[in-house]
Amino acid sequence: MSHRILFVCLGNICRSPAAEGAFRTRAPHFVTDSAGTSGWHIGDSPYGPMQKAARARGIKLDDLRARQFVAEDFHRFDLIIGMDADNIANIEDLRPAGNDTPVRLLTDFAPQSGADHVPDPYYTRDFDGALDLIEAAVVGLETHLRA
Ligand code: 4NP
Repeated sequence: MSHRILFVCLGNICRSPAAEGAFRTRAPHFVTDSAGTSGWHIGDSPYGPMQKAARARGIKLDDLRARQFVAEDFHRFDLIIGMDADNIANIEDLRPAGNDTPVRLLTDFAPQSGADHVPDPYYTRDFDGALDLIEAAVVGLETHLRA
């Protein structure tokens, strides 16, 4: 059973807090967290434009604070979900010997989208497009976890 879910992106201020927020809004009984593979924004709140776009659809992110992904996260969580292939590679670089915690792409749970990653809105500025994809994938993730 996967009860503890960790969402991971690069900065931990746009995509992974949005994914955590969207998921916990739908499925509050899970333990969730998010982290960044970089340490660039440690302690920061989610990026303002992402908070605003999320709030407009009923997803509150204001209590979240960025932290860096660490090897210990492989032991603390049952499922680790990255936003793109770089995230997955950087996560896997820290996998402890013998650990078999599953690491998946968020877009794996939105096959109908045809997307193979969540484009980074920090660069694209398409916060609503990222949230559309994240929300679709979170529905798929919840269905997957119920099965
Ligand atoms: P995220 O987006 O990985 O979705 O949080 C980013 C936010 C900030 C930076 C990069 C990506 N940055 O370079 O500061």
